[in-house]
Amino acid sequence: MEFKLHTADVAALATPLLGVPVFSDDGARGAAYDEANARSGGLLGRIASEEGFKGEAGKRLLVHTPDGKAKRILLLGAGKAGSAKALDQRGLASALVKEANARKLGAAALVLDAEDAAIGAAVEGALLGAYRYDKWKTREVDGPTCTTVTLAAAGADAKALRGAVARATAVSKAVNLARDLVNDPPTLATPVRLAEVASEIAEEHGLEIEIFDRAEIQRRGMNLLDAVGAGSDVEPRFIHLTYRPKGAKTGKGGKKTPSIALVGKGITFDSGGYSLKPPASMEDMKMDMAGAAAVLGAMQAIATLGSPYVVHGIVPSAENLVNGAAYKVGDIFRSLNGKSVEVMNTDAEGRLILADALCFAERLGVDRIVDLATLTGACVIALGPNTAGLFSNDEAFGGRVRAAADAAGESVWPMPLEKKLESMLKTPNADIKNVGQRWGGAITAALFLKEFVGDVTWCHLDIAGPAYADKADSYVPKGGTGFAVMTLIELARGEI
Ligand code: BES
Ligand code: MN
Ligand code: ZN
Repeated sequence: MEFKLHTADVAALATPLLGVPVFSDDGARGAAYDEANARSGGLLGRIASEEGFKGEAGKRLLVHTPDGKAKRILLLGAGKAGSAKALDQRGLASALVKEANARKLGAAALVLDAEDAAIGAAVEGALLGAYRYDKWKTREVDGPTCTTVTLAAAGADAKALRGAVARATAVSKAVNLARDLVNDPPTLATPVRLAEVASEIAEEHGLEIEIFDRAEIQRRGMNLLDAVGAGSDVEPRFIHLTYRPKGAKTGKGGKKTPSIALVGKGITFDSGGYSLKPPASMEDMKMDMAGAAAVLGAMQAIATLGSPYVVHGIVPSAENLVNGAAYKVGDIFRSLNGKSVEVMNTDAEGRLILADALCFAERLGVDRIVDLATLTGACVIALGPNTAGLFSNDEAFGGRVRAAADAAGESVWPMPLEKKLESMLKTPNADIKNVGQRWGGAITAALFLKEFVGDVTWCHLDIAGPAYADKADSYVPKGGTGFAVMTLIELARGEI
């Protein structure tokens, strides 16, 4: 998709489809709408009123104006000016591009405020809204046809805006990469494949990379990752990408560039293991590597856009399957930091592979750790399908991750690391077991992870709900959503 900037008067813009945002405030529908209405000699206003269109958020009205420079005008309801919905520039741009595609129009234009943020969000909305996972369709599908989007921001400084377009393009590409990885079928998107993708990203964008195969995982004592991967014919992989800003200080001269580790759960298929899932619960379990996908996408974008921090992207990856070598209920393994873990449920595998990865991150000496994992169904029960659970051992850092999510337009909500539930993870046979009792399943999972981060400032996002959608909504498609990529990119550029 190509983006053009039109900084002259909108009246001069010839386009098959012009998107015009409309606020729902009575008598104050916004300058873009007033101007378009005036250009049409009041026709637009008459049609809108006859159709009962009042600019409510999410409402759209298409009006043909064959005599105008814009052949069609799509009125985009933006809700009350100043409300959260009114800022949903991504949603408006996504709606515009989808309308253009549905009508097989090769181009469309959107009237915008002359700000960087508005332009960036519009680009994101267009690219994220146009996303489709249709590479397996044999029959010709009506794919996107809208290849040019003109951003009409009268009076804006085109040079400054070009930077915003480049940034938003890198962000959207990263989100769409994560979506693709999640949507790819599990026999293709294996741990070995994820490692290949990571290598490609590293090569193309100049990141450091190390990949551990099964022998190396065993040699290093990542016994939990090894155990979870034991039941598959495809080897597990441990992936470590590093972004270093130019001139990063290692600490030798006293100064050290702050560092953060992004750790993503990479279970490429979760059958449950011998604690086998029932068929319906297994249907979407190719998505159990969405945390890993978010980390890979974010690392790609961070490599392109830069960050003031040293950023580590860490992905422990395995298939949770069953064969004669698979780990069993009652097994005990020692994690990378020497803690013994009794496996009382092989379906609580995510926390096991993350435990080794968190120890690894702690040993790197990072200042911050964020992990992302499709960790528990319980979190989806607690917060619904659109919101991630946020757990942190540091209130200020948890707040910063939340602020980054807010800025990214992703929904997260704080959950407690309730100390009283720690006793649920006690076992007479080992230091800790991998499951609690029925209640508070998202919390006991987070408490388990906490045992492996030491004193490092840490935040855990349980993305089991928002990582995968059962229906499309605005610029978020059905299937893999790319959730958390934008939060991580936002975090890597702000204060940590
Ligand atoms: N990958 C699942 C969690 C999950 C469930 C993700 C639904 C997305 C949608 C995880 O490995 C799992 O199986 N968790 C168990 C934990 C239980 C055994 C303590 C669960 O949530 O049931
Ligand atoms: Mn599981
Ligand atoms: Zn899982």
